[in-house]
Amino acid sequence: MELKKGLEDIAIKETEITYIDGNLGRLYYRGYSIFDLAEFSNFEETAYLIWFGKLPNSRELKDLKEKLAEERNLPEYVVQFIKNVRKDANPMDVLRTAISMLGIEDESNKEELWEKAVKITSKIPTIISFFVRTRKNLDIIEPDSSLSHAENFLYMLKGEKPSNLESKVMDVSLLLHMDHEMNASTFACLVVASTLSDIYSSVVAGVSALKGPLHGGANSEALKQFMEIGNKDNVEEYIMKKLESGHRIMGFGHRIYKTYDPRAKILKEYAKMITKEKGLYNLYEVAEKVDEIGSRILGKKGIYPNVDFYAGLVFYSLGFEPDLFPTVFASSRIVGWTAHIMEYLKDNKLIRPKAIYKGEIGRKYIGIQERE
Ligand code: CMC
Repeated sequence: MELKKGLEDIAIKETEITYIDGNLGRLYYRGYSIFDLAEFSNFEETAYLIWFGKLPNSRELKDLKEKLAEERNLPEYVVQFIKNVRKDANPMDVLRTAISMLGIEDESNKEELWEKAVKITSKIPTIISFFVRTRKNLDIIEPDSSLSHAENFLYMLKGEKPSNLESKVMDVSLLLHMDHEMNASTFACLVVASTLSDIYSSVVAGVSALKGPLHGGANSEALKQFMEIGNKDNVEEYIMKKLESGHRIMGFGHRIYKTYDPRAKILKEYAKMITKEKGLYNLYEVAEKVDEIGSRILGKKGIYPNVDFYAGLVFYSLGFEPDLFPTVFASSRIVGWTAHIMEYLKDNKLIRPKAIYKGEIGRKYIGIQERE
């Protein structure tokens, strides 16, 4: 039996949700280019597309928007948990536990899977914002159903309505993170779903996988790197030193993209605009220089900026502290997780791979008194 470490190049399902062309740097949700969706669509419409396989008509979009807005409130026991959990808790642990608690209440109800998917998607920004405000000793801000998903997230976080630019940047950032085929967290969701466990338990597995620094954490590492460099004149020396000492440039490289990640291309433009508005343009200039010099050196090996390269800078400019970045990622990837769960369950097969045994067999059992 052949060993495929990391399941590299193993397909575990057919999908109609997302297609990545890693050589040309293209990404499609349900056949639509990410460039078009980022320019013309929005979170709610693209979520509909990913869940249901087609762009919604006006009525369908209105219904989904209303449902997403209606479901934003949290049950009191989840609010109490958020208020009482230690303030220095990892936000991904808080998110994971809160979703798990929502699953307890929901165990008995008869909603369809997509309704549960909408419900969880709707509540994640509330969980994150309530925790952020509580840990800063600020009053929590109740959701505002007149605002879009992205606007309401920023409103609950900061207590003021976002500017048009902030709303657009937040909306596009969420849209770009919504799905990415068979990444580690989506696979984790499917492993649980394939046992016919419930959707909440499956999503908890996804959050747990996304928490790891090899998956959801590279965006904050990329930002830290720009802060450490401090000035665009320091970039060349920093990169040379990093690479010569065998270190990696964070936010560069991808298992599938061997060219510029299209999501990074889109985020770069928004990072430029939002850092200007927020007085963080010096960080953008550093990033741009790292992008330029890094691509020149590493591009020969097919290593270019990935989505995380500019995402941290964007999230930070929008007011998220770096430890929150993976939770923002989760607030978007929930759409992909649940869409893949629903797709997989239409033709379910228990996921049960094999391990190649390398230990001994036939060892003689010795009573405890006789062991050394
Ligand atoms: N900086 C410098 N060299 C790199 C980098 C980098 N960021 N990434 C890969 N390499 C080199 C690596 O040293 C190796 O070189 P050699 O063949 O000479 O030993 C070669 O490229 C292949 O690297 P690998 O780790 O075997 O390739 P992979 O496909 O397993 O790695 C990766 C993909 C994302 C783990 C890796 O590029 C990396 O560690 N990047 C930095 C962290 C990062 O930005 N992660 C975010 C990924 S995007 C997340 C998403 O899409 O959700």
